[in-house]
Amino acid sequence: MRIFFALWPPPATARALAQWAGEAQALTGGKATEQANIHLTLAFLGNADPARAMRAARRVDASAHRLPLEEARYWRENRIVWAGPKAVPSGLNGLAEKLGIELYREEFLLERRPFAAHVTLIRRARAARLPPLPAALDWPVNEFRLMRSSLSSAGASYEPLAFFPLSASG
Ligand code: 2AM
Repeated sequence: MRIFFALWPPPATARALAQWAGEAQALTGGKATEQANIHLTLAFLGNADPARAMRAARRVDASAHRLPLEEARYWRENRIVWAGPKAVPSGLNGLAEKLGIELYREEFLLERRPFAAHVTLIRRARAARLPPLPAALDWPVNEFRLMRSSLSSAGASYEPLAFFPLSASG
């Protein structure tokens, strides 16, 4: 079972991002992420034991925060169009770091690439001038999730396995 930890946007934000992705896709080609699948990955574990992942996640003590999505960009190497913050909020960095430490303690071998906060919106895209992102994309981060990913000919589908609340920020 392929599993990963992620943040899921509120429905209105997912809707606005999906609409933007549809407009951008007309310029870039490729495949826009379906609205229900839009997310930000915290840690991708691949084929791994969810019970062990949950044990790690339950020990994470991180604060709720907001995730601003200010930039839409294109990564030539993997041909994705993504949205993300201009600078990763300290709350999100803290969450990713604490989760990484707890996963390490559970002996997960994670990628050593630094955490890159990105929301993939189009795959197999060509470079193009991207339309501006909608201004009001509110994404309060009050929890993170453990997700299961299934791949089929229809694409990826994601199913939540567990939710982990973040503590109220002071
Ligand atoms: P991506 O959006 O940049 O492709 C589920 O597959 C999520 O885990 C995706 O958001 C994907 O990021 C991320 N991910 C990170 N590393 C991955 C890997 N080695 N294989 C598949 N997905 C990966």
